[in-house]
Amino acid sequence: MRKESPVRKDEKRGAWDVFDYQSVKYVLEAKEFFSSNRSKKQDDQQKSPIELSLISIDPPKHTQMRSLVNKAFTPKVMKAWRPRVERIAKQLLDNIDPAADIDVVKQFSYPLPVMVIAEILGVPLQDQSRFKEWSNWVVAGPKDNSPEAIRLLEENQQRTYHELYVYFKEIVRNKRETPGEDIISVLLGAKALGAVLTEEEIIGFCILLLVAGNETTTNLISNAFYCFTEFPEVFEEIIKDTEGTLPLAIEEVLRYRSPVQAMSRVAKEDTLLGEARIKAGDIVVAWMGSANRDEQQFKDAGRFNIKRKPNPHLAFGKGIHFCLGAPLARLEAEIALQEWIKRYPAFKRSDDFTLEPIQSTFVYGLKEFKL
Ligand code: HEM
Repeated sequence: MRKESPVRKDEKRGAWDVFDYQSVKYVLEAKEFFSSNRSKKQDDQQKSPIELSLISIDPPKHTQMRSLVNKAFTPKVMKAWRPRVERIAKQLLDNIDPAADIDVVKQFSYPLPVMVIAEILGVPLQDQSRFKEWSNWVVAGPKDNSPEAIRLLEENQQRTYHELYVYFKEIVRNKRETPGEDIISVLLGAKALGAVLTEEEIIGFCILLLVAGNETTTNLISNAFYCFTEFPEVFEEIIKDTEGTLPLAIEEVLRYRSPVQAMSRVAKEDTLLGEARIKAGDIVVAWMGSANRDEQQFKDAGRFNIKRKPNPHLAFGKGIHFCLGAPLARLEAEIALQEWIKRYPAFKRSDDFTLEPIQSTFVYGLKEFKL
């Protein structure tokens, strides 16, 4: 598909699919031609918090908001989170009984990111199961394509957004009175380009973090377990020099099994992409999962090679919307795997392991992985 029709229109969906590395990169970078505002709703009042958030807006609003929220993800902030993430990873490992059957997704890669987000947003840990439930609803798709399933999903999502809004409103108020070592407190004090974030924008941003940072990071960690146990000879190398090889191995997991397979855009005006004539208003889906396996860009693209350097994969996107949480996702994956390897240096999957992939076109990850 990538070779034969790198850019093609799927008439059934009425959307363009872009598969090759150069075109995917171009679509993600060309903000003048492709908008991130994918909502069909005209009225802001009708839009969900995600449809109004950073990931769905274009410059100049995006530029202003991004420069404000960047302050919550600086290298200095990241350094301060390291011991907190380590504590959470160790705590989860303490709760695992090595003598019993282990499901790495359920017991480790699934709870870890939500505990980290709860911590960095400065919300009580006991709310984490509600967090996970909320974030699951926001990213859920309909059970099938029937109008009834779509209506049910919309109803549940609206209820979820309302609950999240009420919940964060209270938290933001508390942080304004008593600031702490958390993102909300940082954002309440942040100023950039002569502007500050409104309370509504901070709430929307908290909801975005919950949605953008949970399932994605869970899937990166699960996919790393998948790759390391599938290629034990590579895992041996990681064990020999964990500090030196693990960050490179994580980049290769991001390329080889990309947690986010695609992002969409809307064409702002009639434009040409190679030979494809894209019309204003057309939906364009940039398949990063495919671009990351493009032989024109990556030698032996089908090989899991932790020595790949440089590794310019597009798993975190490219351009102005490049993943804000990428440093945090990398930190979480590195600590999770480091701590796991310290406890279980000889771990491998058994002959009767079970592995259940997530059924989704846009997300690549595991629902279950019993070693
Ligand atoms: C944006 C992937 C983890 C927060 C993005 C985009 C991708 C992505 C592909 C670009 C979207 C676009 O171009 O439209 C991932 C992957 C992750 C991950 C693969 C884990 C392995 C996180 C985490 C957080 C986060 C941990 C925060 C806690 C965001 C935000 C944006 C974003 C706020 C929007 C940035 C903007 O529009 O300027 N992510 N993400 N992500 N991500 Fe991540």
